[in-house]
Amino acid sequence: MILNTYKKYAAIAALNYISFDSIIGIGSGSTISYFIQALSTIKDRVIGVISSSYNTTFILKKYGIKVFDLNTISTSITYIDSADEINNNMEVVKGGGAALTKEKIIASVSKKFVCIIDKTKQVNKLGFFPLPLEIIPISYSYIAQEIFKLGGIPKYRRGIITDNGNIIIDVYDLNLEFPILMENKINSLPGVVSVGLFSYRKPDLILIGAKNGVEIIK
Ligand code: A5P
Repeated sequence: MILNTYKKYAAIAALNYISFDSIIGIGSGSTISYFIQALSTIKDRVIGVISSSYNTTFILKKYGIKVFDLNTISTSITYIDSADEINNNMEVVKGGGAALTKEKIIASVSKKFVCIIDKTKQVNKLGFFPLPLEIIPISYSYIAQEIFKLGGIPKYRRGIITDNGNIIIDVYDLNLEFPILMENKINSLPGVVSVGLFSYRKPDLILIGAKNGVEIIK
């Protein structure tokens, strides 16, 4: 599929933003799988990786790339991750793969966040892709009611338990015109572990894989 080719373009281009002999953070998902493949070709030039999910860790280990615990790292890191949607203000919706919490933690501590996407992830307005929330299971009914009050339609993501032992709600039809306000409101609900809106820690750089190669947005 052509989208996979675009993801690969962006993933390969991200190698240019990695410092040699450094530890990098990486996200989760299909674009990141392409990035890990690309990284494996230069794996001896990096010290290793901080992983955002069990799935990413599994793939990294398959390629023989060292994985580090974030708590043991004191050097600054560059974070490479993809997105489900990104707007012109570089605000992002993430969490389609349910790894949003660790992704947000690693993005937040990173010195540089490089977002790698295919062209279809670029939108004028966030919100077509349902907004993922990681929540504590006991809070489900309460949070669902609060989401209705905010104008959204919550849907329980069946069959998913996150790496942290929680559940995911996908929120449809939410007005995300002011992402920071919505991120604050949802974060203030007891039981919410993470909201998949990255409006505080936005990417510093976006690499967009498309028909004619890679477009760079700073
Ligand atoms: C994982 O939880 C997500 O945040 C992913 O970054 C996002 O869903 C993009 O995934 P793909 O690279 O598979 O499109």
